[in-house]
Amino acid sequence: MQDQQDNGAVAVVTGAAQGIGAAVAHRFAADGAPVVLADVSPHVAATAERIRSAGGRAVAVHADVSDESGWARVTEAAHAFGPVGTLVSNAYTVEIAPAHETALESWQRQLSVNLTGTFLGVRACLDDLLDQRGSIVITSSVHAWFGLPGRPAYATTKGGLTALTRQLAVEYGPGLRVNCVLPGPIRTAAWDGVSEEDRRQSAAQTAAGRLGDPEEVAAVVAFLASAEASYVTGASIPVDGGWSIYKASS
Ligand SMILES: NC(=O)c1ccc[n+]([C@@H]2O[C@H](COP(=O)([O-])OP(=O)(O)OC[C@H]3O[C@@H](n4cnc5c(N)ncnc54)[C@H](O)[C@@H]3O)[C@@H](O)[C@H]2O)c1
Repeated sequence: MQDQQDNGAVAVVTGAAQGIGAAVAHRFAADGAPVVLADVSPHVAATAERIRSAGGRAVAVHADVSDESGWARVTEAAHAFGPVGTLVSNAYTVEIAPAHETALESWQRQLSVNLTGTFLGVRACLDDLLDQRGSIVITSSVHAWFGLPGRPAYATTKGGLTALTRQLAVEYGPGLRVNCVLPGPIRTAAWDGVSEEDRRQSAAQTAAGRLGDPEEVAAVVAFLASAEASYVTGASIPVDGGWSIYKASS
């Protein structure tokens, strides 16, 4: 099996302006792939510029993953380099509130970005991905498996993404591999509002004894997209420093 790092096809990364998505985009570019960075944030242009300054090939597309017309612009930008060989569906949104305080619009917004955004990305890139015998990597979360108060819609979307991963893997295999990563506590803007004390507590509840870095997730995404992972498909891989296997009580 060939994968994008081996054949020069394009990697599309959503939510790539910052955090895990930016680290993934940097990693693919460093590995030699042209990268399309899609994001609603205007900072995505500067992220792509940093990749180019480092010698990589990258273009930014200002696009909302939940808007189908945005996906037409993403694939058009990709085709300036070549066919899409890897799709990393990573963009997300979260609004923290218990279920009874979650407005319908908020619920639908989170499903639209996190879940429907992935569906639209897959549809937009599928022909290329099948032609390239490529790969999809979806960013889910440990919240797919574990309940944390105040995140009913987010957790639902992350659980749905693990099911979608398995579904797509059987639907489109053997021509296409589909996997997802389940990050645990990773130091990104998602942690901006979290106090030092809460960060310490989360770090203490990992076997690794610390929060992770976006590059540590990017390394697993790069592996899953590479020919090295040619017999891995439909898998949900935690990248959480052991957060999900750590229990502090007997
Ligand atoms: N950081 C963590 O601790 C952690 C833990 C578990 C899972 N994750 C997952 O990792 C992924 C990346 O999160 P992060 O921590 O890097 O967050 P981040 O906030 O740093 O980055 C998210 C990016 O997604 C973009 N985005 C938001 N809505 C969008 C839309 N509609 N269309 C396109 N782009 C959009 C944002 O502009 C932002 O650049 C997410 O899927 C998140 O659920 C993160």
